[in-house]
Amino acid sequence: MFLRKLTCLKLTFILAMLVAPQCPVASAQSQPQQNGPWMDKSLSPDQRADMVIKEMTLDEKIQLVHGTGWGVLRGGDGVPTKSNLGAGFVAGIERLGIPDINLADSAVGVRMAALQSRYATLLPSVLGLAATWDTQAASLYGSVIGRELREQGFNMSIGGGVDLAREPRNGRNFEYAGEDPILAGTMVGHLAEGVQSNQVMGDIKHYALNDQETGRNILNAILDKRSMRETDLLAFQIAIGIAHPAGVMCAYNKINGDYACENDYTLNQVLKKDFGFKGFVLSDWEGTHSTVKAALAGLDQEQPGYGYFGAPLKAAVEKGDVPMSRLDDMDHRILRSMFAAGVVDNPPVRRVVDPFRGLEDSQHIAEESIVLLKNADNQLPLSAEAIKSIAVIGSHSDVGILSGGGSAQVDAPGGNAIDPRYGPSVWGQPVYFPSSPLKYIRAKVPSAHVEYNDGKNADAAANLAKKSQVAIVFVNQWMSEGRDAPTLSLPNNQDALVEAVVAANPHTIVVIESGGPVTMPWADKVTAVLESWYPGIGGAQAIANILFGDVNPSGKLPITFAKSDADLPHPKVPGIELLPPPGPRGREGRMKPFDVNYTEGLKVGYKWFEAENKKPLFAFGHGLSYTVFEYSDLKADGRQVSFTLKNTGERPGAEVAQVYLELPASAGEPFNRLVAWQRVELAPGESKEIALTLDPLYLSIFDVEKNGWQIVPGEYKILVGGSSENTPLNSTFGVGVGHGGGIGSGN
Ligand code: NOJ
Repeated sequence: MFLRKLTCLKLTFILAMLVAPQCPVASAQSQPQQNGPWMDKSLSPDQRADMVIKEMTLDEKIQLVHGTGWGVLRGGDGVPTKSNLGAGFVAGIERLGIPDINLADSAVGVRMAALQSRYATLLPSVLGLAATWDTQAASLYGSVIGRELREQGFNMSIGGGVDLAREPRNGRNFEYAGEDPILAGTMVGHLAEGVQSNQVMGDIKHYALNDQETGRNILNAILDKRSMRETDLLAFQIAIGIAHPAGVMCAYNKINGDYACENDYTLNQVLKKDFGFKGFVLSDWEGTHSTVKAALAGLDQEQPGYGYFGAPLKAAVEKGDVPMSRLDDMDHRILRSMFAAGVVDNPPVRRVVDPFRGLEDSQHIAEESIVLLKNADNQLPLSAEAIKSIAVIGSHSDVGILSGGGSAQVDAPGGNAIDPRYGPSVWGQPVYFPSSPLKYIRAKVPSAHVEYNDGKNADAAANLAKKSQVAIVFVNQWMSEGRDAPTLSLPNNQDALVEAVVAANPHTIVVIESGGPVTMPWADKVTAVLESWYPGIGGAQAIANILFGDVNPSGKLPITFAKSDADLPHPKVPGIELLPPPGPRGREGRMKPFDVNYTEGLKVGYKWFEAENKKPLFAFGHGLSYTVFEYSDLKADGRQVSFTLKNTGERPGAEVAQVYLELPASAGEPFNRLVAWQRVELAPGESKEIALTLDPLYLSIFDVEKNGWQIVPGEYKILVGGSSENTPLNSTFGVGVGHGGGIGSGN
């Protein structure tokens, strides 16, 4: 009986512990030096790191630059006895007082908590967080992760995804912060800063251009340098500049011919030199492809094993192929990051995670993240007094809300709400969290008749809708690492379900739970649409609060919703047609390497739609409120933008006021770019003057010849409003010849 209750993974883990192969860990020296001079906290992290390095043997230096294997991630692999059972483990140098590094995946909450009967809060997806446009929410998000990592005994996060949503069907867009580099970089920077505020090392990933999952290990992303610097790399630059993370994880794919983990341009020249990154570059899991090339190109730590940076690196150093100074630099970067984060001086002490605090924080972020896309005739908010009957349909909304899969998967408390078995989540299976929309909708209208239909049979769902005053259809799109959505269309005939329901009852509201944008062929027919992303453990409460007006929606799209796949720069996910059918070996293992030519270049997301004169279904920055905001009194020059924002409606609400910039034609960028924004809370009738400073970097273009940022002379147009396509205010300012340029390429 007891044995039956153990999952296969748990058994494999126990067996693995018994037969664990010896990991290459340097043996402790006889004289412990844990109180060496580097323990003096008044010294800088760099000074302290140098002092430690002077004491280290070659074996110890090697030990710190690699992990010890797949561990718990792969049944049968060795698990070091001291591992905290996260995705990675690096053995510390005990005799010198340098702790082990215990790394945990934690994109939207700490992963694999169930493995040890631990609890972790599921936050809304990072894309949802980006929809808040609220840097305080981002810090809070990171601090929940940091707090729970510490409480579970981890000292390094490997979350922090900031790859741009260049490909809207990318399976991991829910882990990332959308399509705009300034918004994404700012939000993820604050997120990582929040993680590190808990004395846990933070990470930003996957550097860079890991913009799709199809063929991620073999594809070669081709993009010109200017576009790279102004789009995908700019997001990293901003995030790194805000957070100063301990780690940057290099990606699986190639970039212009070289693997991201052995790419001299992106690692040495851009990340370390131009961005001034002081932390260490760790490879994505098995993303290392060489010893000497990778070491010289800027990789500092191999994960999760030691095939290249174990014995082969030691040999290369002994032979002189990798200079000792470079190995010292790798160790320096790791050690200085440990000292800077505080993991040496104040290591984590395990305690019970507070699930109530996590729920409150998560729900708060969800309430800011949900986007009201459409609200015809002000059908929302629903009036709890007037409503007598509601049909709640689809998406297992009787029991839970959906979460994203892959290494971002958080384990649901009590197990998957739709299949509550023992043990951790299973890769490839959608997991629902026990936050039931039906329950919280019922709680809002205790005397109304609220009935559920699972939506599997469209006719049955329509029948229920017909006899109800209002129908709320939940639709969803499960996304995961390792696969992209083949199209923007909702899977599993859900479009037909919505069509059937709205045909039966015109008062139909659609609530979407998705990893990214989806198409809505029924958008004109339904009365209201809410995008709730993957809303986290407080998701159902947040959705109910918005449906009934206890919370006024304020989220704005951080990603464009296209009308169809045909409107995208790549109507099909590049390479998807090359995927062999599922079989015994991984599909990708049987694929031939291919190029993904990002010909759209700078025109990512809304910039593509603007430059190509295509009208999206819902534009970047769009999001409605139950109140009305009025913009006036714009004043702008090249440094500052100010305007007045007034709530002219009858409810308190928050508006995300957005500032876009049109560059002079000579810049060669025929679209506007987001350059500033502010989330403003206003009571009914209240108005505020908003003054925003423009960062010169955001006004600049990247000059490849000079390897620097330049402000081109000419006339600039500032546009201000509530979305990229609704900017009631505009004005111009000029930058004279000789006024611009030379603002540097660092951050
Ligand atoms: C591969 C994923 O790409 C990465 O994001 C993750 O951190 C590692 N696996 C470890 O799980």
